[in-house]
This record gives sequence, structure tokens and C-alpha cells, in this order.
Amino acid sequence: MMKKAKKTSEAILKVEGKEVVLPVICGTEGEKAVDISTLRKSTGLITIDPGFANTANCCSQITYIDGEKGILRYRGIPITELAAKVSFVDVAYLLVHGTLPTESERIDFSNLLNYNSLLHEDMRHFFDHFPKGAHPMHILSTMVNAMAAFYPTVDVTTTARNIERSCARVISIVRTIAAFAYKKSIGEPIVYPRHDLSYCANFLNMMFDSPVKPYRISPEAVRLLNVLFIIHADHEQNCSTTAVRAIGSAQANLYSTIAAGVSALSGPLHGGANQAVIEQLRMIQADGDVAKFIRKAKDKNDPFRLMGFGHRVYKTYDPRAEIVRKECENYLAASGINDPLLDIAHRIEDIARQDSYFVDRGLYPNVDFYTGILYRAMGIPENMFTVMFALARLPGWVAHWREMIGDETKIVRPRQIYTGRTLSEVSAEVADFEPPALII
Ligand code: CMC
Repeated sequence: MMKKAKKTSEAILKVEGKEVVLPVICGTEGEKAVDISTLRKSTGLITIDPGFANTANCCSQITYIDGEKGILRYRGIPITELAAKVSFVDVAYLLVHGTLPTESERIDFSNLLNYNSLLHEDMRHFFDHFPKGAHPMHILSTMVNAMAAFYPTVDVTTTARNIERSCARVISIVRTIAAFAYKKSIGEPIVYPRHDLSYCANFLNMMFDSPVKPYRISPEAVRLLNVLFIIHADHEQNCSTTAVRAIGSAQANLYSTIAAGVSALSGPLHGGANQAVIEQLRMIQADGDVAKFIRKAKDKNDPFRLMGFGHRVYKTYDPRAEIVRKECENYLAASGINDPLLDIAHRIEDIARQDSYFVDRGLYPNVDFYTGILYRAMGIPENMFTVMFALARLPGWVAHWREMIGDETKIVRPRQIYTGRTLSEVSAEVADFEPPALII
């Protein structure tokens, strides 16, 4: 069971003539929260916080973010260290199990990923029935949900070793599904996963190998993919992880729970932003007037937003964006790629960082601002960008699900303030209502 946050002090709330004392709890990095879980019982009042912007849904030991200082750590280890030194599979192990793996743990975990990398053959036929042009994220969420029908149920009652196997299965198979979906979309035969390849090399091979042109696995592409996957692997209570925790709290099957995460991630305000950034940069390139789009982003009467900018938690430069920007610039330079979209992205960033609208609101490039340009340079098709994010986020979702089921979690069920019609407002309508002679 998870270590609970300590009570460090008390808050006094005076409300409607009553005074209540509420505990203040403190996390290991000094983050404080007023525990309002007994507030309704003692006062009849609830709290309201749209988008849960000021609400912690749980205590968690997985990821620490300080959005004011631009700090991101998985299980206490800075993201920069992880991106520089370890593989994505090690990070997946770290997130799910709490520490970096020993040599034997790494072998055991890699074996589990390998033994569970094949997709059930009957599920392969599903790909034949999606319409041409279906977005791979929609295919992915459907396929992950369908896994619940093909693989044994995994929920809170499942034994520890089976949970471990199922977590490895979902991390490994989603990669296979993603590559199969891409191959189907371009009309090429699918390429099966191989036990002799590392996680990221395997994915690239399944994406790009072909019977007529064998794929030469580039060590630099494998390294880059490791870095990109590592920096996306978890981000505490983001929208998709919150969806995973919410669905999982109802004790739904692991696969249905992860499918909910994939669905949440597909939105352009979340993981879908990486594709939206490229589309927006291309639109700005076609127009040619960067300043016009900055003006539009600042105009309260214009719904236009700069995609890849801003973050709920970071009010300074997103540490992941810093890593991607450097990798992107280095990779394009080393590969001799001159992408005009990178120049436009630089210009937008330069303008925004001098403009009080962005500076005062703490709006900086987020992780999605430069990833699309890098994925494009690596040959990843645009409609696969968000799928790449989903593959990378799998260990995070799985880690949160495991943490949640091992804890005394209550079903996620917020309250609301009803603002609809009152009984007195509708009574005349009900009294005057003439039921139809024939009930259809
Ligand atoms: N362009 C222009 N103005 C913005 C932007 C933007 N991208 N983002 C926020 N603002 C403004 C917003 O209009 C508001 O201004 P005001 O205070 O005058 O009303 C202020 O900044 C605060 O914005 P918010 O919408 O209240 O902030 P939020 O925490 O609810 O939203 C966000 C966070 C990421 C949804 C938002 O910044 C956004 O829509 N960004 C563009 C989409 C994007 O890049 N999403 C990827 C996020 S990072 C990866 C991930 O989580 O998947």
C-alpha cells in the first residue's frame, strides 16, 4: 500500500457561521494540500474546481513535477538523467516497479515484453474493416478495448504475476497494433515483432521494413526514439492518466481502462497537439505572416490558440520541450534536413518569449511544439504522431493503474452544483402536460 502524505498543520475554514478545522498534508517534496474529504459531513458544503485545476485526486509516488521551476522526475530521478542514460524499457520498469531494474530484472522484464508482443491472430482481421483514412488513434483505442475480449480479464482480483504479465502485454502489444495499423493504412504487408530486437528498434522495423526493401535499423533513430518515448512516459495526473484512474477506479478491466487513456490522449488539447502543431505551422507557412497568428492567439474574440504552447502545470519552459528542441535541431542539422517549419517554430518562440501576453501567463513551448518536426524528419507519418505519444505513455498509465489498485482507492465520483430548473419552475409544465393518446 502507498505511503500516505503526512499531516503537517491545520487550516481553519469559517463558513456560514461555522468553523471547521481541516488537516493540511504535505508530500515528500514539500507540496501542501488542504484535505477537504470530511468537509461535506461537517458543513454540508462541497468544493468546486472546474477542470480540477486546484485539486489533487490522489497521492502518488510515481512522478514529481514542479511547474514553476520546470522540474520533472520519475520515481525521484530527473528526466534529463533518464533521457541521457537509460533505455525506454528501463524507464517503463522504473515507472511500473519503482526502481531502475537490476540486470536480472531487466532480462525478466524484456522477456515478458517479448513473449507478449504478438497480437492475437484473429484480431489482425479487424484492421480490414476500418474505413480508409480512419485516424490511427481511433483504431488504437478500438483495438485496445477489444483486447478485453481476447485476453484473460485483468482487474483488482487478478494475481500479482498475472497483473505483471498483463501490464507487459499491453505495453508490448500496443506497439504491435500501432505498427500494424500503419502498414494497413499504406497497403503494405504487416511486419511481425522480433525477439532479437530492442523495444524501439522493433517498432521502427515493424513500421518501415518491407519485403522489397529491408529496413536498415539506424542506431541514431533508435536512440532518438528512446529519448522521445522516455520524456513522454509519464506526467502525473494529466487528462489521459486521470481518465485511466477514473475508469480503473470502477474496477473495469485493464484493457478497457487503457483504451480510455488512448481516447483522452487523442484530443488536440492533449496528445493530439503534436499533430495539430504541424498542421498549424504549415498553415502559417502558407500564409507567410507569423505576426498575424501571434495577434490571433492573443485576441480574446478569436478561438485560435498557438498549438504546442501553454500548459496547465508548467508556467516556465517545459523541460521535455527543451530536450526535444535540442534533439530536433541536432538531428536536422546532422541529417542535412532543412525544414522551413523549424524556422517558423523558432520565430514563433522568439516572438512569444518577448511578448508580455505569453510571458505574463507563463505560456512557453510544451512537449508537443517540436516533437512533430522531429518525427517528420525521422520519417514518421503525421497521423501517427499522437500514436507515438500513446506508445510512450503506456508505462505511465500502467504504473498509475497498478498504484491505484494497490491502494484504498474510492471510485472516482465527483459531485456537482446543480443549476438546472427547480421543481417549482416545472410544476405547471408537468400539470399541463397532455400525454399523447397513443404511446409510440
Ligand atoms: N495560445 C494562446 N493563449 C493561450 C494558450 C495558447 N496555446 N494557452 C493558454 N492561453 C491563455 C488562455 O487564453 C488564458 O488566457 P486568459 O487568462 O487571458 O483567459 C490563459 O492563457 C490560461 O489558459 P487556460 O486555457 O486557462 O489554461 P489551461 O491550463 O486550462 O490549459 C492547455 C492548458 C495546454 C490546454 C492550453 O495552454 C492550450 O490549449 N494549449 C494549446 C494546446 C496544447 O499545446 N496542448 C498540449 C499540452 S502539453 C502535452 C499534453 O498534455 O498532452
